[in-house]
Amino acid sequence: MIMTQREKGFYISTYGCQMNVNDSDRMATLLEMADYSPVQTPEEASLIIINSCSIREKPVHKVYSEVGTFRKLKEKNPNLKIGVGGCVGQQEKEKLIKNQPIIDFVFGTDTIDSLPQILMDLENPPEGRSQKIVRAQFEHRQPYHVETLVTNPGISTFVNITKGCDNFCTFCVVPYTRGREKSRPLKHIMSDVQTLIKRGVKEVTLLGQNVNSYESDCGADLADLMRQLAQQTSIERIRFTTSHPKDFDQKLVDVMYASQPKVCEYIHLPFQSGNSNILERMNRGYTREQYLEKIAMIKKAIPNVVLSTDIIVGFPGETESDFQDTLSLVKEVGFETIFAFKYSPRPNTKAAKFEDQVDEGVKSERLNRLFEMHDEIAFELVKRYEGQTLKVLVEKADTLMEGPTIKLTGRSTQNKLVHFLGAREWVGSTVPVTITKASPAVFRGEVPATFAGGLN
Ligand code: SAH
Ligand code: SF4
Ligand code: F3S
Repeated sequence: MIMTQREKGFYISTYGCQMNVNDSDRMATLLEMADYSPVQTPEEASLIIINSCSIREKPVHKVYSEVGTFRKLKEKNPNLKIGVGGCVGQQEKEKLIKNQPIIDFVFGTDTIDSLPQILMDLENPPEGRSQKIVRAQFEHRQPYHVETLVTNPGISTFVNITKGCDNFCTFCVVPYTRGREKSRPLKHIMSDVQTLIKRGVKEVTLLGQNVNSYESDCGADLADLMRQLAQQTSIERIRFTTSHPKDFDQKLVDVMYASQPKVCEYIHLPFQSGNSNILERMNRGYTREQYLEKIAMIKKAIPNVVLSTDIIVGFPGETESDFQDTLSLVKEVGFETIFAFKYSPRPNTKAAKFEDQVDEGVKSERLNRLFEMHDEIAFELVKRYEGQTLKVLVEKADTLMEGPTIKLTGRSTQNKLVHFLGAREWVGSTVPVTITKASPAVFRGEVPATFAGGLN
């Protein structure tokens, strides 16, 4: 099928973390307010935006190769505008355009709201000025006010509560691509969530690079914010990510426990390495023992808690014995889900200059061993769900199926993706689902016949 370009049709390609996903929603809404409409493929677009990620080298390469494929579209449609936003845009600024002249504009993580203005300036370039635009300065002075902007908020929506990061882990580019840490005022988040509830949202995920260091101008911390959201709004579920072990405290677990079931019993707590010496060189601010103490505190307060984590293998200087410490920590804690990565040297970061870089082959081999070991324990860990009835918030119905019983997808409070059969009207409701098959990635289940709204 030949696609034709649509005037004022935009296509956004999104890489990276939930923050970028949320930022792409914001861009889409701003573009729709400026009379653009979304299209399904880059071929149909008159505007393509790459919302890039720079956390590892791989996604950065992907951005460059994607720009290469869009070059052909631009040859066919010289009016096509191509922009790069996100963390690579923030980091590379004008260098991107110098290397890839087909890019028309670059914007950063703090200049998303100037997107409509950038497009207007591209249409009407000031006399004698270049057609290219770069707007990627950080906004250091203004307070952090960013009302959630989503065209179709859906059942579950992200809400930014902090931006930036001041931790400067020695491997991480985020402090350079997202700038200094700032928190939104509590009262703004409360009214934002109230508005989302009115638009049909049932679950919010509070977002930030280190949500545990959230601090409102009124002095409230993350625990206070979650308690108020649970007590003073009718939101059904509250999640938060990402947590930092050094700032995860007793008050937060106590509020999590007291606010169940609104606050979900799921915590993503990246440990990065199981070896204290490596953790120190990473500047993580905790030791293996302190991490395990936090886990013990969490499990004591919330016995039904489900944990996931992020891990880096092959950090500079990591020996086989250090890596064994990572393997043993995964087993000891019993993470049901892990996200593991080979260390990737990043521009400006301290660890990129460390001399004892680990060989790529060794990194790959360690990553494989970690996943193999985790697969074995994860299948065992999730078996316990078979036969259990979980509360599933239904997010999606199969759009192609018809009839009274169709395929539904939702998440349990433990953040498990569950597929089952049910009625389309259940989308947006929480229904009981008895798990028939549990694998680490996805669960299958069925709604008990006794369920009041059940199918006849
Ligand atoms: N703020 C979060 C992490 C955000 S980045 C935290 O502090 O936990 C998401 C994950 O990417 C990190 O947890 C880490 O595991 C991984 N990561 C970050 N920098 C990396 C690098 N240079 N190489 C490989 N993985 C990296
Ligand atoms: Fe990066 Fe560390 Fe900040 Fe997380 S806490 S974003 S890993 S610097
Ligand atoms: Fe990537 Fe930027 Fe997120 S580097 S992981 S998109 S904060």
